[in-house]
Amino acid sequence: PNDRPEDETERGLRVADKGFLNTAVIESSITYIDGDNGVLRYRYVRVYVTVATHPEAYRRGYPIEQLAARSSFLEVSYLLIYGALPSGSQLSHFTSEVLLHGPIHSDAEGFFRSFRYDAHPMAMLTSAFSYLGSYYGEANPSLQGQDLFTKAAKGDATALQNMDRQIFRMIGKATTLAAMAYRIRQGRDFVVPPTGMSYTESFLYQLDHLSPTDQLSGLQSYKPHPVLAKALDILFILHADHEMNASSTTVLQTGSSLPDPFSAVAAGCASLYGPLHGGANEAVIRMLLSIGSPKNVPAFLEAVKKREKVLSGFGHRVYKTSDPRSFIIRKVADEVFAVTGRDPLLDTAMALHDAALKDEYFVSRKLAPNVDFWSGLIYRAMGFPMDFFPVLFVVPRVVGWVAHWRQMMLSPSGVKIWRPRQVYVGPSTRDYVPLEERK
Ligand code: ACO
Repeated sequence: PNDRPEDETERGLRVADKGFLNTAVIESSITYIDGDNGVLRYRYVRVYVTVATHPEAYRRGYPIEQLAARSSFLEVSYLLIYGALPSGSQLSHFTSEVLLHGPIHSDAEGFFRSFRYDAHPMAMLTSAFSYLGSYYGEANPSLQGQDLFTKAAKGDATALQNMDRQIFRMIGKATTLAAMAYRIRQGRDFVVPPTGMSYTESFLYQLDHLSPTDQLSGLQSYKPHPVLAKALDILFILHADHEMNASSTTVLQTGSSLPDPFSAVAAGCASLYGPLHGGANEAVIRMLLSIGSPKNVPAFLEAVKKREKVLSGFGHRVYKTSDPRSFIIRKVADEVFAVTGRDPLLDTAMALHDAALKDEYFVSRKLAPNVDFWSGLIYRAMGFPMDFFPVLFVVPRVVGWVAHWRQMMLSPSGVKIWRPRQVYVGPSTRDYVPLEERK
């Protein structure tokens, strides 16, 4: 027994679950995924009926297909955060609060200008959320007391209002920060968020509106194209939440030690940045460019099977069939291409898609297209540079992150710090050896 590491002798069940394959970290009613059947619903609630003929009778949530076809991004945001579709007045209050919080202190311009000319926009955005937190001491439990937000769970109206204000700020300023990261790389002045536009129109306006300096160069005025603004709105709905993905888990893990919510969102950005998560659509375009043409698809798939390459945009931890968002996105792609012109990479993408879905290697592993297989092609057609694709994922996902953060803060049982355990496999006690005696 003396040879056993001390922590192995503690009582309780401990499971080593690398990659959290079978570990649920929260109970949540925000998003429901049935990975075997390719189902995604927002704001899942259990409904108890007296006669249960089918498990379906117990599940209620808004299907992603209906929300994409009939709702708008800010309405879906309200739904994810507050749990119900808003009334007309609730939606207009929510919309005006979010848009009202779009502008950013002019000092932030200096912050963006301090980055290297070719800084990755995700590096800027991640740092910018953290920077933003420094402006709002009222949102910082280290300054205001650690029950700043958790007392909202006990019905404290001031705490709830404070929480909502930070949520409006983070959603409202997400587009502004993203647009600043975009424009600084082009050496262009920043534009103030406009009034009288939808969230996605305002975002497109901030990205491409001509500043006074642009106008001096003789460029024409800019107005968001309604089809492209609508397409982006749908893409934002599809990306708004996806339960315990890597970045949302990171936001909660960070939020569990009670920092200000801007810091938790900055941590989410860092997690989303990676090519296995938010960087996957960029990886898809690089992959398609490297394949070059449909005739090279068979050789590429052979390389994937030999594990020399990865088929980006395929596979998912939860979906073991096609990601339901990929069907919606495929339709949106056609609408966008009708405006922008057809991307020649589409032929390679379709040949790859069709060949992989018929190939035994991918079929037996239940690998099917995920949301990223088509989204990069849409963003490329809309003229976005590839390294901006993850930013276009962060902006809507801020909503999912703040919905999860709010749900955790309002938990009736309180917030428990996320402190997982490990299975220790190192040596037990050994004696310190002075440097001169070491071999
Ligand atoms: N290309 C080739 N083989 C793959 C792929 C792929 N894209 N994805 C999984 N596999 C293989 C694995 O090698 C493994 O094979 P094996 O059983 O012979 O060892 C098997 O399929 C099971 O895959 P896992 O790696 O266990 O699946 P995991 O759940 O850990 O990974 C992930 C999921 C990271 C999404 C993976 O499928 C992947 O890397 N896909 C490409 C990147 C991508 O598209 N990411 C976007 C995800 S969606 C999102 O974040 C919005």
